[in-house]
Amino acid sequence: MIVNKLIANMLPHMPKRLIWIFSKRYIAGETIDDGLRAARELNAQGVEVTVDVLGEFITSLAQAEGYKNKYLETIDRFTSENIKGNFSLKPSMFGLLIDKEACYKHLYNIIALAVEKNSFVRIDMEDSQCVDPEMTLFKQLKKEFPGHVGLVVQAYLRRTLDDLNSLNNLTANGHPLNFRLCKGIYVEPPHVAYKDYQEVRDHFLEDLEYMFKNKMYVGIATHDKYLIDQAKILIEKYEVPKDMYEFQMLYGVTPELRRSVVQEGHKMRVYVPFGKEWFGYSTRRLKENPKMASHIIKALFFR
Ligand code: FDA
Repeated sequence: MIVNKLIANMLPHMPKRLIWIFSKRYIAGETIDDGLRAARELNAQGVEVTVDVLGEFITSLAQAEGYKNKYLETIDRFTSENIKGNFSLKPSMFGLLIDKEACYKHLYNIIALAVEKNSFVRIDMEDSQCVDPEMTLFKQLKKEFPGHVGLVVQAYLRRTLDDLNSLNNLTANGHPLNFRLCKGIYVEPPHVAYKDYQEVRDHFLEDLEYMFKNKMYVGIATHDKYLIDQAKILIEKYEVPKDMYEFQMLYGVTPELRRSVVQEGHKMRVYVPFGKEWFGYSTRRLKENPKMASHIIKALFFR
């Protein structure tokens, strides 16, 4: 653990090329063409994608405009090339913590284009300070674009089941609520998030069962084989139809497990991040979650 923390702190000072050795496994590249290449490869394996333009927590609203244009271009390119997939975004890169109204307008424009192209946008969940404003954004946007917007919920948060309860009556025009359920990646204090590994798993399954019972669409986002096996048991128990759930994994993570889930006939979607901001993204992620550093050691020395 101490070694992991040390490595995580050293990362921003390491040469970019060295970090890329680790990052390239998890990031499609810097350009839209890199993202398209990765998406085509995954589509050919029977896997859909959700495309993410890298960037988060901006410090000036001018940056948000640039990111919005990048998303519009990305949606245009991916849909015109008939990629099977949708889009994910982080509201903090559109100014969520600076100007909520400006952030809403950017997301509105992005989702409006996705609607025009018959696609879908998922709002990623960021750290705990973002949960309330992201839920508010989601509620507003779900009213505007009922079948085209979804949200992420994090099983490690103590509040998540209450949040699901409070959102439960938000189905609009017959469109079910659409969530991605993940464990949660940010480092949160114990009064905010469960810390124990098995406790997080237990709450993941509790949330998942609640979603199935309440006929919500779920993207089951995990590489944890235990959770995947338990999810399959719940799918059978509640006879969840194939068009009401999918499994999701991150680009480059546990490809063997991914293939086995696809072979069993479940829908699978891979989160494909690309963009010039990969260095900041990788090093920030690693600082936030030093456990990830052990993956770097493997990537650097056991290639
Ligand atoms: P766990 O971390 O226990 O991993 C299980 C096993 O998978 C590990 O033992 C390891 O073998 C492998 N593994 C996992 N991550 C790996 C990695 N990076 N490199 C190599 N091996 C790895 N979080 C969040 O807070 N907000 C969000 O919006 C999202 N969005 C999101 C989308 C998708 C599609 C996924 C799959 C995940 C997210 N996450 C997220 C991240 C999520 O919260 C969580 O941190 C990671 O998925 C890791 O948790 P697991 O459930 O995979 O279990």
